[in-house]
Amino acid sequence: MGLSKQPVAVFPGSFDPFHLGHADIISRATQIFPRLIVGILENPSKQPVFTPNERLEMVRSLYAGDPAVEVRLFSGLLVNFLQQMQATVIIRGMRAVSDFEYEFQMALMNRRLSPSAETVFLTPKEEYSYLSSRMVREVAALGGDVTGLVPEPIRSLLEERMRS
Ligand code: PNS
Repeated sequence: MGLSKQPVAVFPGSFDPFHLGHADIISRATQIFPRLIVGILENPSKQPVFTPNERLEMVRSLYAGDPAVEVRLFSGLLVNFLQQMQATVIIRGMRAVSDFEYEFQMALMNRRLSPSAETVFLTPKEEYSYLSSRMVREVAALGGDVTGLVPEPIRSLLEERMRS
């Protein structure tokens, strides 16, 4: 297969904040797909800890030295973003059985909207299997230590944000 035929994958999410479970999924996905686009959802209806642009900058700076990883914002339907990026694969992390129902529904809805969209589930390292952005936000908001749960530059930004 020529390089131009290799599928482009999108790893979509809210990433508020990006944590080490996300980083683990990215490193696994880039072992399989030569080009991975991290798609950060701009969702104006939520009250995020970090603005979409802050999240974009944070994740971009983490992967600045990695040519396989591109980071972009998207809004609207994920399948439209895939089409814009000429991507056919959606990467999602599957942590536990509790993720299954929502992920399964989302995969089938995306396939219905775009039959060429294929969802690939990757499982993170066990030590990150309980990790979620919601938990990280809650622990940080209540003054708990999130060292080892998020990349260091994000930890300091998160602690700073929670203090303000
Ligand atoms: O990190 P999250 O919040 O679990 O990510 C959810 C995300 C962004 C992948 C999902 O909400 C999404 O794709 N939203 C875009 C809107 C869309 O396409 N909805 C139809 C498919 S369910």
